[in-house]
Amino acid sequence: MEPIAKLDEIPSQGIIFDYKEGPFDEQGILLHTRSGVRAYKNECRHLPMRLDDREPAEVWDPHKRYLVCNSHGARYRPDDGLCVSGPCEGSHLRQLPVVVEDGVVFLETDKIGGFFDV
Ligand code: FES
Repeated sequence: MEPIAKLDEIPSQGIIFDYKEGPFDEQGILLHTRSGVRAYKNECRHLPMRLDDREPAEVWDPHKRYLVCNSHGARYRPDDGLCVSGPCEGSHLRQLPVVVEDGVVFLETDKIGGFFDV
């Protein structure tokens, strides 16, 4: 397991973090949601691009209500990663396995690659 952040230090807009997926350098987004702390791979489900791959380098919509892909405008619900509009509507961001222990959020690296959709 790899530590990502202290639970009480996650800002409202979340944290972008780096991790390894096999030989690949990837990014995740760690968030507080109404259903608890969640992490998603920072990769759109329309095309394999980071949500903030294009300007503005931001993963949120202007109202901070949805995660948004800046390439073609897919909008994702932060609570469960569901794409609510855009070219991949109905799909989900890939959830990353995290666990909280002693107030620290850890990425369960041994489970990376066994992604599950919600
Ligand atoms: S790559 Fe994200 S909406 Fe097209």
